[in-house]
Amino acid sequence: MTHTISAEQSAREQELIETVVASFEGATDDRLRVLMQALVRHLHAFIREVRLTEEEWNAAIAFLTQAGHITDDRRQEFILLSDVLGASMQVVAVNNEAYGDATEATVFGPFFVNDAPLIASGEDMAFGATGEAAWVEGTVHDTDGNPIPGARIEVWEADEDGFYDVQYTDGRTAARAHLFSEADGGYRFWGLTPTPYPIPHDGPVGAMLEAVGRSPMRASHLHFMVTAPGFRTLVTHIFVNGCDYLERDSVFGVKESLIKEFTRHAAAEPTPDGRDTAGAEWTSARFDIVLAPAADEQHPESKETP
Ligand code: BEZ
Ligand code: FE
Repeated sequence: MTHTISAEQSAREQELIETVVASFEGATDDRLRVLMQALVRHLHAFIREVRLTEEEWNAAIAFLTQAGHITDDRRQEFILLSDVLGASMQVVAVNNEAYGDATEATVFGPFFVNDAPLIASGEDMAFGATGEAAWVEGTVHDTDGNPIPGARIEVWEADEDGFYDVQYTDGRTAARAHLFSEADGGYRFWGLTPTPYPIPHDGPVGAMLEAVGRSPMRASHLHFMVTAPGFRTLVTHIFVNGCDYLERDSVFGVKESLIKEFTRHAAAEPTPDGRDTAGAEWTSARFDIVLAPAADEQHPESKETP
C-alpha cells in the first residue's frame, strides 16, 4: 500500500530535513559534519518512506532502551543488532576492499579477548574446552606469494555446547590462544571441530529475530585474527563445509572462499604430530592465509613526505 502525500506536506517534510542538516554546518570537525548530515538525511528518508507511526517510534525507543539495559562489559547488544542487520558485514566490506588474492575478512563478533594464551606451533588451543579435536594448519603469505614469518595468529571458537569461555561465569580461559607463523610462514595447532551455535538471543535482538521468523544460528566457524607489521590486519573465520547453516548465517558472515573441508579421520588414523586421540574421531583442516599490504603500503604516493 503506497501512501501519497500532498506537495505541500512533502515540502514541509523536506524543509525540516534541510533545517536539521544545516544545524550541523558549524561543526569544526569535517568528518563529523559529513557523518551527522548523512545520518539525518537517511534517517528522515526512512521515516518518510515507511510513514513511521508514533506507536512504531515508541516501540523503536523501547527496543533501544532494552538493548541499553542488557548491555554491559560482557554483553554488547548494540553490536549484535549491527550484526543481524548486516551492518557489521557492510563495514567489513567497505574497509577490506579486495586486494589480489588476499584472504577475505568477515565479522569480528563479540567474543575476542586480548591476552589469550600463547601456544607453540602444534599445541592445543582448546585448554579443556569440550568438543571433537581438529588439527588446523596452513601458511601465511603476502599477495606476491612470499611467506610471512612471525605473523601473530589469534584463534578463538565456541565449545561443542555452543559457548565461548567468556559466556561461562567461572572465569575460565579455553578454546582461544595466539601463536606465530614459522620461518616458512607455516602454522599448525590443535583446536575443536566447530559446531553451529546461536548468537545470544535472550534479549531484544533475539526477540526481533523471532518476530521476523529468523534463526539466531551461526554457521560453524573458527575465528582468526592475523597481524603482521606492514600488512592489513585480517579478521576472519573459517567455516565448515557441509554445515547446515552456511546459507542462513544469522550475521551474514559466510563467504565462499572461507568454507573449508574439515576432513574426518577414524580414531585409529595416525595424527600429524603423533598425538593419541584416546579412541576418538578427529578432523583436519587447511587454511592458507594471504595478507594484503597495509593501506599506506598499497598507495605509497599517499604517504606524507617530511
Ligand atoms: C561470533 O561469531 O562469535 C559472533 C558474531 C556475531 C554475533 C555474535 C557472535
Ligand atoms: Fe563465533
